[in-house]
Amino acid sequence: MPPPGTARPVREPVREPVGEPVLGEPVAGRRRLPEDGRPSRPGAAGHRGEGAWPVRTQVGIVGAGPAGLFLSHLLARHGIESVVLESRSREYVEQRLRAGVLENDTVELMVRTGVGDRVRREGLVHEGLELRYAGRGHRIALSELTGGRSITVYGQQEVVKDLIRSRLDSGGTIHFEVSDVDVHDLDTGAPRITFGHGGERHELACDVIAGCDGFHGITRPAIPAGVLTGYERVYPFAWLGILAATAPSATELIYSYHQRGFALHSMRSPSITRLYLQVPPDEQIDGWSDDRIWSELDTRLSTTDGFALAAGPILERGITPLRSYVVEPMQYGRLFLAGDAAHIVPATGAKGLNLAVADVCVLAGALARFYATGRTDLLDGYSRACLRRVWRVQHFSWWMTSMLHRAGDDEFGHRLQLSQLDYVTSSRAAATTLAENYVGLPLPLPGS
Ligand code: FAD
Ligand code: DHB
Repeated sequence: MPPPGTARPVREPVREPVGEPVLGEPVAGRRRLPEDGRPSRPGAAGHRGEGAWPVRTQVGIVGAGPAGLFLSHLLARHGIESVVLESRSREYVEQRLRAGVLENDTVELMVRTGVGDRVRREGLVHEGLELRYAGRGHRIALSELTGGRSITVYGQQEVVKDLIRSRLDSGGTIHFEVSDVDVHDLDTGAPRITFGHGGERHELACDVIAGCDGFHGITRPAIPAGVLTGYERVYPFAWLGILAATAPSATELIYSYHQRGFALHSMRSPSITRLYLQVPPDEQIDGWSDDRIWSELDTRLSTTDGFALAAGPILERGITPLRSYVVEPMQYGRLFLAGDAAHIVPATGAKGLNLAVADVCVLAGALARFYATGRTDLLDGYSRACLRRVWRVQHFSWWMTSMLHRAGDDEFGHRLQLSQLDYVTSSRAAATTLAENYVGLPLPLPGS
């Protein structure tokens, strides 16, 4: 029996897409393209065995994080079929505590594509944030500085839940708890994914594969050596994050620069607070008692006018390294990388999830053109189109990180940081730069 909500019926054999050089050279034994050179049509999923497992799809997606799920969702709107393969269980991906800040257009995309009811209802819309240093808070009026754009605080796992429910309710295919996923024949017109489930091996033939399997996934390493160039910056600090059952102590996010290190006050709901502390990169969570966490947060968030941080039971805690990483190009043959599989940003800019969404918007648009017309121009330009935004976001995230974290005893650097904070909080032009990047640059939204 197929896992619930995951099987799709087979109707007709898939037809191969047009093979432009950038999508991989034609290979010996490859089937001839149809006369009209058109790519395969939806409804092409095939099954093997008892009809339980699809053996063909148009777009095989590895990973059911925000990138993979959004891609599957956007493709379905264009009538393009996909199969999502995820190594974790549905429960796990729906509970995994991660990002919490959605850019203006991430929310707009959810609303316009029919998965935005809950984020509109339960998301916390923020029109400003606070930069705190030298014991004083300074508001950055995000919306006023950006023509009314805002961010929404809504947990990543809520986005994931909304997308999974929507895909399964509309007959989409997501296979959870698959093992040993591998991708093959990427430089041909007929790439394949093999994977295990329930003790058996399965094979999925695809037109295209999307590597949405995060930073530690298998798709990026499957690209032959020498094809990709990686660019990396590792920071001498990490974040200790907690989720606490206590009401937020402020209505807006607070990014605090303190001589003992960075601290961030965020939230998830009127009764749940999310807080972060800069810690050394090799820090062990065991060394942090509840008292130590609250006391350090208290110190780093304190103000000269008596800000009071409300403490409470800590529900979850963890340490996350900060890293900047980009691979170029984000494509090899018929494999397209998206989200954390292709790039990582340090969390200070709150961009990782949003950048993953931006990638798959571009990929879905390119695939829609490909399937509608057989043209590969947008697919050929996928990497270039994404990397422009990726590097803008990399710069912003690096800049926020450098401005707000304490780097050892570097007194010269410390004074530069104070000068930067002073400038950003006193110059409208500098504040606008922060605001514009923080609420997010425009996405290609449907209907605009
Ligand atoms: P992932 O979410 O990592 O999804 C990849 C999926 O692939 C996972 O479900 C994984 O289980 C699956 N997978 C991996 N390997 C395989 C395999 N071999 N086979 C099948 N499946 C596989 N971003 C923001 O925008 N705003 C924030 O405020 C923010 N805060 C953050 C705070 C923390 C503590 C952390 C850790 C991250 C934060 N981020 C934030 C970053 C954000 O969470 C990531 O950028 C985002 O999850 C990227 O989505 P993705 O779909 O590309 O990758
Ligand atoms: C949160 C995470 C971030 O990385 C950030 O910059 C702001 C908020 C959060 O989890 O709420």
